[in-house]
Amino acid sequence: MKKITKAVFPVAGMGSRFLPATKATAKEMLPVVDKPLIQYAVEEAVAAGITDMVFITGRHKRAIEDHFDKAYELEASLEANGKTELLRMVQSVVPKHVNCIYIRQAEPLGLGHAVLCARPVVQEEPFAVLLADDLIDATPSVVKQMVAVYNEHQCSVLGVQDVPRAHTRQYGIVSATHLAPNVEKVHGIVEKPSPDVAPSTLAVVGRYILTPRIFHHLEHVQPGSGGEIQLTDGIAALLTEEQLLAYRFEGERYDCGSKLGYLQAQVAYGLKHEELRAGFSAYLKKVCDAG
Ligand code: G1P
Repeated sequence: MKKITKAVFPVAGMGSRFLPATKATAKEMLPVVDKPLIQYAVEEAVAAGITDMVFITGRHKRAIEDHFDKAYELEASLEANGKTELLRMVQSVVPKHVNCIYIRQAEPLGLGHAVLCARPVVQEEPFAVLLADDLIDATPSVVKQMVAVYNEHQCSVLGVQDVPRAHTRQYGIVSATHLAPNVEKVHGIVEKPSPDVAPSTLAVVGRYILTPRIFHHLEHVQPGSGGEIQLTDGIAALLTEEQLLAYRFEGERYDCGSKLGYLQAQVAYGLKHEELRAGFSAYLKKVCDAG
């Protein structure tokens, strides 16, 4: 049985919903309280035992590489000023045993194309895909939960959640039947269907474990929804020859690709933050009482 050791982070998107904040920086670098979204995603993968992080980057994404690299000047300055706690924090952004690998996606041809760019590194191994703008607060981490499902069933696994029918146009939607607690057998998947034709309300939310056979299909799928090479279409093709499962993960998901979801994440993580909890909850109470 092949262990999952690699995670792919497609981070080449334009982040147009957060302009102008994302004009010169990556949307994955937007912080929730004090950590960028991409760091939460990497920590989730690390917690699942993954050691190779493959970032599919594009123009204006250099901040991501810098974030996971050694910061000589900053570290020297923190050390000289005796700020050991901050120094420790900066140095532990990624654990020492973790490798960060960067691949540039030259053209924005879609999520499926971004994942295909990881092929030279992933090769013939099963791997995880994490979309950092889906921030999921879960213990154990969602990818860890999904790796356990993969280990048991030895096939691709999609992280799914029920969404309101009116929202199906924002997601890959699966049709599936119950297999085991929280695990469904997938029969079909379609990218961003309108609510009247959506096969269900079970949506894929930014977490995938995929077998390497997906690369073969991504190479052949035609541009789909939005004129892009869609990961969902590659998965639909994979389904014609391999079993595929959907896993209803346990955890709270914040859609940080939308402004409302991003603000909700700030509130939830602010209220969980040790240093901020008391002051922030008193402030929120005051605001609510006033409103
Ligand atoms: C992408 C995928 C979609 C998935 C969603 C999860 O869409 O194409 O299938 O449901 O992520 O967040 P995007 O949000 O990039 O438009």
